[in-house]
Order: sequence, then structure tokens, then C-alpha cells
Amino acid sequence: MRRPLPFTAPALLAPMEGVTEPCFRDLVLARNPPTHLGGAFTEFVRVVDHPVPRTVLRRHLGPSARPTPFGPPSIDPQSFGPRPIGLQLMGSDPAAIEASAANAADLDVAVLDLNFGCPARGALSTCAGSALLRTPARVTDLVRAAVRGVDGRVPVTAKIRAGYDDDRGLEDVAKAAADGGASMLTVHCRTRAEGYRDDAVDWRRIERAVRAVSIPVCGNGGVETHADIERMRSRTGATFVMIGRGALRDPWIFGGGSADADSARAFLLEYFDTLVLRGQFAPAGALDRCKQLVRVFRAGNIVEEQGGPKAWLAEVDPVRFRARLVDPAPAPSATGVVGAK
Ligand SMILES: Cc1cc2nc3c(=O)[nH]c(=O)nc-3n(C[C@H](O)[C@H](O)[C@H](O)COP(=O)(O)O)c2cc1C
Repeated sequence: MRRPLPFTAPALLAPMEGVTEPCFRDLVLARNPPTHLGGAFTEFVRVVDHPVPRTVLRRHLGPSARPTPFGPPSIDPQSFGPRPIGLQLMGSDPAAIEASAANAADLDVAVLDLNFGCPARGALSTCAGSALLRTPARVTDLVRAAVRGVDGRVPVTAKIRAGYDDDRGLEDVAKAAADGGASMLTVHCRTRAEGYRDDAVDWRRIERAVRAVSIPVCGNGGVETHADIERMRSRTGATFVMIGRGALRDPWIFGGGSADADSARAFLLEYFDTLVLRGQFAPAGALDRCKQLVRVFRAGNIVEEQGGPKAWLAEVDPVRFRARLVDPAPAPSATGVVGAK
């Protein structure tokens, strides 16, 4: 039996490896009420040939996704009310997926998602992620294995791309996931071959998936503005919309309000501090994560106004980087001269 979906709104934060770990997710959840942001996903957890232990899954879910937190979070992601976090698994061995799904259900995850879209060489070399788009029968087997593993406790969802080299098999893969017992199908509207190219965004593929299956479809790919959320739903018939890089550019995209410079700086500051305070990264690691975000972050226009991405990325000292966020005036250089290079 398919389990009902727990999302509180149609717009969802996409799984993003190296980005949507618990700190980033919690910050986004804390700024978007449940009526705007309906849920979020972990980055993929790789499943090889043995079950992923509960301790590993718990780490991906983070403190806010658990009834018993590891410690007090420095931010309160529940300030707007609880939100479902989907745990994403990526693998190609049905037995290992089944056992890992059982472990996830033991942890009370809200949703279990399977990744059939990752284009990375590591995924392809183990015939996981988007490699499975070429064999719909294996997609059915893997979804079925996850459904067996969760044993009716958790809805299982699947995330696919429009195809491997081209989109001709889209309907077959969509049906394969539905046949396996998926409660929702997310369709990233680019093929594996198209990577993340802007010119490859084709929402008609989402509409094709909506017509092919009777389960709810979540459209994904190329949502750049708040207005795009409803635009995608009305053009394609998708029930849900998943946002990836648009939420990195602007974490407030779900509600449509625009953050002022102070709020945008506070976001980056809390990101840095939470990564360190939760023990996830040493300051140098937190700096790297923040710099990765700064490459695309456009909220409050602070990156542009404080020297542009180049100036932020040139900063190698975590303390000075953090100072940029506390005091918007240019941080003193090592020579003590403001603005000196
Ligand atoms: C840095 C990065 C990491 C990603 N990691 C994952 C992942 O772990 N699992 C997944 O299903 N998709 C992953 N994706 C794909 C996104 O979830 C999404 O499908 C894709 O970015 C298209 O949506 P967008 O155009 O809104 O960004 C990743 C994308 C990016 C940019």
C-alpha cells in the first residue's frame, strides 16, 4: 500500500550532495514557513553491497529530523513548525537497499527517496544513479526492495532524470518507478547527458511524466524564481516542485520575499557558525563550505556589494571571512589598512 506523503506545501528543497547537510537544511527551513517550504531532502547516501548503518543515516538526518536531538542546535529549524526530511539512498543492490531502507524506517524518517539521476562517474561505475535509467526493470526492482524494507512505515519516492542519453525512455522509467510502489516521482527535466545545462531545461518532459503515471509527480529543473514554482505546476500538472540551485542563489525563494542585506549576511554567518558549533567542520572547512555557497549566493546582493565573488573567494582566513559577515565594511587587511591588498 502506498503511504500518504507528509509534505506541508508543494515546494521542496532538492537533495544536493555537499550542500544539503543538516546545517544548511535547517537554516533554509528556519527561514521558510511550512506553507511555503513543504519539506527537504538529505544529500544521497551511497549504498554499496551492505546495509548502511543507522548511525550513518542518523548523521545525514541531523538533530532536527530526530525526536531526540544530539545537542541543542544553534538555530531553531522548527521555529516555523516541523517539516518532513526525506532521506535519499543511491545504490544498485536490491538486498542492500532493502536492508538500508529498513534501517531508515527504524529511525522514523518521513520519506525514503531513491536516486536514479546522479550523473557522476562514481555512480555510473557502480551502475547506480542515472546508470539505472537504461534498465527500467531494475528501477522497479530497487523501488520494490525499498518498499519491502520500510514495510509500510514510510512512503518511498523515486527521483529520476528525463533519460540517460536522450528522453525517449522517460515514460518507461516513470512507469517502472510507479510499478515498484513509489508514492511520488520526482523528474529532473534534463537527461544525464545534458548535465546541468540551462539550455536543456524542458518542462514538457515533466508533463509527459505526469501523463504517464497516476502517482503525484514532483517537477524539478530550472526553477529560478518564486514565480517559476507556480508556473511549473500549472504548465506541467506536477503536484510538487523541487528546487535545487535556485535555493542556493536565494534561500528565500520558497516564499517569494526578498531578503535585505542584513538578513542575507545573518544567513551566511549562521551557516558558518552552525557548521563549526555542531562539530561538523573545523573553521577552515566551514570557510570552504561558505565559499562554495558564496559562488552562487545572490540574496540581499551582499556578495556583489562587498567586492563580488572574487573578493570573498580570495579570503583564506576563516576569522576575516567571518568578520565580513559581522561588519559589512571591508575587513582590515593583514597590514591593518582597510581595503589594502
Ligand atoms: C551540488 C549539487 C549536488 C547535487 N546532489 C544531488 C543528490 O545528492 N541527489 C540528487 O538526487 N540530486 C542531486 N543534485 C541534483 C538536484 O537535486 C537537482 O535535481 C538539480 O540541481 C536540478 O534542479 P535545479 O535546476 O533546481 O538546480 C545535485 C545538484 C547539485 C547542483
